[in-house]
Amino acid sequence: MKNVKMIPLDVHSDSYGKLTPIEGRESIPFDIQRVYYIYEVDQDVRRGFHSHKNLEQVLICVHGSVKILLKTPDEEKTVVLDNPSQGLYIGPDIWREMYDFSCGAVLLVLASEHYDVSDYIRDYQQYDAYYQKKKRGN
Ligand code: TYD
Repeated sequence: MKNVKMIPLDVHSDSYGKLTPIEGRESIPFDIQRVYYIYEVDQDVRRGFHSHKNLEQVLICVHGSVKILLKTPDEEKTVVLDNPSQGLYIGPDIWREMYDFSCGAVLLVLASEHYDVSDYIRDYQQYDAYYQKKKRGN
């Protein structure tokens, strides 16, 4: 799927445990401008339901597991994040929904821009129209 890829992160493992470093523009393809994490999500909660016009993100489930639905008007796929050494890159114009958070799951998100409400499309019909228009090149 275009604008979506898994990013394997380094793991430094020894008898003291494991450590995964993340460096902007090194491990991940952009400068990190913002970090947030989603946690204490009840198992029956589904969230996200939006796309971004420009924002790039990398999602890392640093504890537990969560499913991510990635969707465009042309295709969709589901990714299970359950490994702190794997990042899920999501570029612009991808509709995403997060669900099936395991008990205690923590989803860390690295973002390429500061929070900007105007970068969001939160209505699927609007997203569909925006996507089709962009695909036609106007
Ligand atoms: P929201 O975008 O609804 O979360 P999700 O898409 O994961 O379901 O964000 C929840 C609240 O947090 C909402 O009031 C906006 C706020 N928020 C910020 O203030 N800064 C941020 O960087 C993010 C991602 C959200």
